[in-house]
Amino acid sequence: SYNGLALTPPMGFNDWAKYECNINENLFMKTGDALVAKGLSKLGYTYVNVDDCWMQKTRDANGNLQVDTALFPQGMKALGDHLHAEGLKFGIYEDAGTNTCQGAAGSYGHFDQDARQYASWGVDYLKLDYCYQPLSDYPGASAADVAKIVYTQASEALRKTGRPIVFSESAPAYYFDNSTFWQIMKWIGNEGNLWRVGDDIADNWQSVLTNYEQTSMLRLAPYAGPGHWNDADMLEVGNPGLSLTEQQSQFTLWSELASPLLLSTDVGALSGAPLAIVSNKDVIAVDQDKLGAQGTVVQTGGGYDVLSKPLANGDRAVVLFNKNDRAQTITTHATTVGFSGTGNVTLKDLVSKKVTTSTGTIAATVPPHGTVIYRVSPTHGASAPSATVLSVTQRSF
Ligand code: GLA
Ligand code: GLA
Repeated sequence: SYNGLALTPPMGFNDWAKYECNINENLFMKTGDALVAKGLSKLGYTYVNVDDCWMQKTRDANGNLQVDTALFPQGMKALGDHLHAEGLKFGIYEDAGTNTCQGAAGSYGHFDQDARQYASWGVDYLKLDYCYQPLSDYPGASAADVAKIVYTQASEALRKTGRPIVFSESAPAYYFDNSTFWQIMKWIGNEGNLWRVGDDIADNWQSVLTNYEQTSMLRLAPYAGPGHWNDADMLEVGNPGLSLTEQQSQFTLWSELASPLLLSTDVGALSGAPLAIVSNKDVIAVDQDKLGAQGTVVQTGGGYDVLSKPLANGDRAVVLFNKNDRAQTITTHATTVGFSGTGNVTLKDLVSKKVTTSTGTIAATVPPHGTVIYRVSPTHGASAPSATVLSVTQRSF
């Protein structure tokens, strides 16, 4: 990783999907309090990230960003101090262009000054968006070249502060899957820790499916690894637009894809089944696995995908994902998900916690829009030769 940070995908909170510009400092302080009170910070949810709308439309006479003091009367340093006192981390949003997507003052031309400002506030995480980029300031440069110039300057500015700051880059999302996107992918992991891949998430199933399809593209998987992650955008768990099955699916799929796990819901109100979904240590362990491999689709059929994610201890996290509107039985095999040999495998259902053994078949009846996630281990026993795991090729930056 370019800065030694985010060796596993960042976890925490970002307000945008739930609150957009309806934010204030109380929301973030209360969110921090709730992450601690509900045991979520202990599970790894430590970043509390402020998205757009915290700043004013113009800079002050010295060129400094101005906090919207109607929303943040105590200022950003006080918010950072509140979060740090709880053992949490403080994240902030800016935009690499002249304005943020909501029209507030952008960071363009001020990367060094702004980076020093964030550091002075105790910022631990920066999401740098890519609205309002003045491409015409770079005559002759391609769109991908401009993004590289801009994000390299910004990452250098963060580095110069001497403060460890996780860096989230948004440029790829503005060029999803076109030639500029793939040019950007060549350097993106050298300049930052994570990057938005595609669309803004919304509180409905179609949106979850879209972001899943974008992020699970086979060609993207090699770019994920310790310190550098494909970001499928925020979690909608806890919000009203998804059924509980769909909320579980989003959480399972995001973990399988080694995406950041950023809650965007009223954390203080999170309880019952949605709280249980995001508190599932076994699924979190798949997301946070030290190998840092992104799960890939290894089998598809009529409205279903089977994904497999290699884990550091040689296990595989296998997801059976039913995209259909009707229940179906999805069947795969140990060899399909990456085991060689003829040994038995042990399957642990990471949601029901039920453990079974199999001579190779991996199957489940999965509800509509549902997922089943198994941790699959080779069985060590006198009668069964243990399976060995095929090696994964990781892209190194
Ligand atoms: C873009 C980003 C969102 C959010 C908004 C804020 O749309 O993709 O995640 O940051 O800007 O304006
Ligand atoms: C609608 C959607 C489903 C699901 C439910 C949740 O029916 O079509 O995908 O999100 O709402 O209640």
